Parts: sequence; C-alpha cells; structure tokens
Amino acid sequence: MLLFLTLSVLTLLSVFLYIRIQVKMSFGKTLPTVKPYYPVIGNGTLFVLKNNEQRFENLVGALSNSARLFKLWLGMIPVLCSCHPDVVNKILTNPNCHERTFQYSFFKLYHGVFASRYDIWKTQRKSLNITFNQRILQGFLPIMNECAVRLVGRLGSVGECEEFNITEYIMRCTLEMVCATTIGADINNHSGAEKLSQYMVKFCELITRRIMSPHLYWEVLYNLTPTSKQEESLRREAYKVGQRILDDAIALKVENSSESREEDYYRKPKIFMDQLLESIDGRTFERDEILHNIYTMIAAGTDTSGTELIYICQMLAMHPDMQERVYQEMVRVFPEDDAPPTAETLKQLEYMEMFIKESLRLFPIAPHIMREAYADFELDGMTIPKGTAFIISIYNLHRRKDIWGPDADSFNPENFSKEQCAHRSPFAFIPFSAGSRNCIGHRYAMNSMKIVVAHILRSFRITTRMSMDDIKFKMDILLKSTNELLISLARR
Ligand code: HEM
Repeated sequence: MLLFLTLSVLTLLSVFLYIRIQVKMSFGKTLPTVKPYYPVIGNGTLFVLKNNEQRFENLVGALSNSARLFKLWLGMIPVLCSCHPDVVNKILTNPNCHERTFQYSFFKLYHGVFASRYDIWKTQRKSLNITFNQRILQGFLPIMNECAVRLVGRLGSVGECEEFNITEYIMRCTLEMVCATTIGADINNHSGAEKLSQYMVKFCELITRRIMSPHLYWEVLYNLTPTSKQEESLRREAYKVGQRILDDAIALKVENSSESREEDYYRKPKIFMDQLLESIDGRTFERDEILHNIYTMIAAGTDTSGTELIYICQMLAMHPDMQERVYQEMVRVFPEDDAPPTAETLKQLEYMEMFIKESLRLFPIAPHIMREAYADFELDGMTIPKGTAFIISIYNLHRRKDIWGPDADSFNPENFSKEQCAHRSPFAFIPFSAGSRNCIGHRYAMNSMKIVVAHILRSFRITTRMSMDDIKFKMDILLKSTNELLISLARR
C-alpha cells in the first residue's frame, strides 16, 4: 500500500513537473531537440549505461548540431545549446547571462570567483581583475622562469629516449607557479601540497559523475552515495593544506607590512592574495571567501595549463618540422641560455603562439561551459526567460568545418596566421571563454605556457610513437584523454 502511494505521488509529481517545464519552454518550441529524446528521461539514453569515452563522443555528437540554437534535455531539465560564433557572442557577452548554472554549486566553492552566483561574483571579480593586470603579470615572469628551470632539472632524471608520461612533472610545475605567483606561497614548504592537483583531478571526475546523473542533483540523495563520502574526504584533505597556506600568507603579510614603510607597501603591485587580504571599499573578504578563492585559483590555474601543456608537448612530438620551427624561433629570441623572458620577448615568439593557439583550438581544456539567464533577455527573436540554462560547446565550435575548413580536425598552426585570423569571427576561437566572465588568468596562462615550452625545447627534442588517432577523450570537466599520452626526450 505504502509502495503504491509513494509511486503514485512520484508519478503525479513527475507529470506536474513535466507539464510545468513544457509550458516554461514554450518560447523555444520551434528549436530543434537533440535526438533520441524521450519524455521524462530526455536525452538520457546518450549517457546512461555508457562508459566515459562513449559519453564524451555522444555529447560531442549531440552538440555538433548546425542549428544556431537547439535543446538538450538532462532528464527533465532543458538546456539550450549552441556552437555558433554569433549566438555564442550574444550569450557570453550579455550581462544578463553571467550567472552560473546550479551544477557549478557541486564544486562547493560558493564563495570563490569561479563557482559563485552572480551577485557575489560581480563584486569579487571587480576587485580581483587588477591582480592580473599587465604590471603584475610582468612581475610574475621571473618566478615562472624559475619554476620552468626546476621542471627541466627534474626532467633530466628521465632516461634518454625512454617513453614516459610527463603529466606528474608538468602538474608539479604549474602548481608551483600558481601558488608562488597568485598566493605568494612556496608549496615546497608545505607538506602535502603536491597532492593538491591530484585532489583536483579526482574532484573533477566525481563532479562530472554527478552532473551526468540528474537524480543525484538532489542533495539528500547524493549525500547517501559512496561518491559523496569520497568527495567529502578529498575535500577535507585539500582544505587542511589550504588552511596552512592561508595561515602562512597572513603571517607573511603581517611581517612585510611591519618591515616596509607604509607608502612602499601601498605602492607595491598587489597579487591575488594581497587583494583578498585587503579591505576594498571598506569591505573585507570573509575567511570562507579567501579560502574558496585559494582553492579556486589552484583548481582553475593548475590542471588547466598543466593539461594543455601535455597536449602541446604531444603535438610538438607528433610534428617534428613544426617543433624545429618553434625551437629556431625561440633560439633567435633568446640567444643566451639564461636570458630571462620579458613581456617584449614573449611577444616575439609569434610562431610558438600560433602553435599554442592551435593546440588550444583542438584541445580546449574547458570543452563545454554552462551559463544561466540572470534575467529575461532577447535572443534570435525570442524572449529567453530568467533561469534558462545554456551549454556552449567550445569543443564543437573549434572544429566547425564551415569555419576551419574540411581539415578542421587536423593540426595546423597556420590557422592562426595574421591572414587567416583577419577574416574570422573573434568568437570562433574562445578557449578562455569570452565576455566579462571569461578566464581571469588567460594572459597569465599564455605567458606561463610559452615559458615552459621554451625551456623544455631549449634542453630537449621531443618524440613520440603516438598519432592523433590515439588521443581519445573522456567525459570530464576538463578535456582529458582516456589513454596515457607518452613521449620521449632526447637531450639537444
Ligand atoms: C590553458 C589554460 C587555461 C584555460 C584554457 C582556461 C579556460 C577557462 C575557461 C574556459 C573559463 C570559463 C569557465 C566557465 O565559464 O565555466 C575559465 C575561468 C576561470 N579561469 Fe581559466 N583557463 C586557463 C588557465 C587559468 C589560469 C592559469 C588561471 C589562474 C591563474 C585561471 C583562472 C580562472 C578563473 C579564476 C576562472 C573563473 C572566472 C570567473 O568566473 O570570473 N585559468 N578558464
């Protein structure tokens, strides 16, 4: 009897929700829907009982629709999708579309700039933007250089021409860089800090699993699962390290401000951490905001550039002629071995920049991003109601044949020559997203990747036995390969 009652209530609830959502979505009834679609489970058959590689393939297949705007259903939750540069421009640059969808709350970094809701984000982003300005970025170059020198030193222990996975080495380097520059902490002094990037990788896997399971959107149900327990224990470990880093940074700030004259202190450029510890317009960041922003920076800055660098190394290895061209340009710009990079010299690495951009095109680290309408707005002749969710498929946008030509899936840095860029929409290439809620670290990332590539190539020639067909992606927050990417290094 109880079972019958429960089932009846659930069925009624589902029918009620289904009708309510259909009415709410009536504004977009002419938009195409991803197939196969079934009431209640939506496009679920694309993902249920599939492995992570099939899920990624199915999602990419579903989102490669040529329509400007179309619908995907995560169970009963509708999401508007696009990989059209014009529509992507209208969504990402619309101030009414800077809200995060509720799925970002799964990161539980509610008080940090990446995952916070619009109102918190707006004030935080305004005060944090200046911590990535040109002057501050310029000041980071010597630190990035030191980290890259240490990376090359560690790579020296890898056997000559031995096949290996460079992930661990690269992640250590990007973690050192992000902590030293944005947080002002030397992770080599923090036991357990080296595990932070591994925690982040695991987090992303668990959160992806939750995003793909709409029944686990319900917190009460999710908290009963082993995934939730695993996530909690990872979070506890990561927070322990974060607390120690924060305590050290606070102690260092107190020491510095008592040592330096007050006016010197205020004249010095403020890094991300300084700004978090400052009082801005009479308002101070709460301890939770500071902590969540430390984790945000580590998560958003480490695994992203790290994973991209792994793809870049793989592309250099697979394309020896292009590798030689990048190397020759680097030697021309930095004739002396230990010449520290400057903003000016990095700008002269034009071919390297084309190479990195082509890697970002084919391997955009954030393949799919989500947004939510903060208020009603007009799009393609429709009034999109507040609360509507969007998926922007950067992966599909970067591989559109009508933009990148019939060889869109092949690696060709010439796609970023001045002539090619001149007649292409700026919204055809958005690895760092676009608009005001874009990647705060995009210039930082470009500088750091150039410095790391320059140091690796100065010391080593990279080779591989793998080909493009060996790179298969899996469903994750970041674009991750299912199989290990292996390279070999030979000393120059
Ligand atoms: C290759 C390297 C990188 C790529 C491709 C990349 C890409 C992106 C993308 C696409 C977003 C938007 C995500 C979304 O809307 O869901 C984003 C946001 C963000 N990124 Fe990056 N990123 C990179 C490196 C970095 C670095 C090095 C940092 C910091 C040092 C950083 C900090 C952030 C932050 C804080 C946000 C959130 C911004 C906001 O919501 O206002 N990223 N990144």
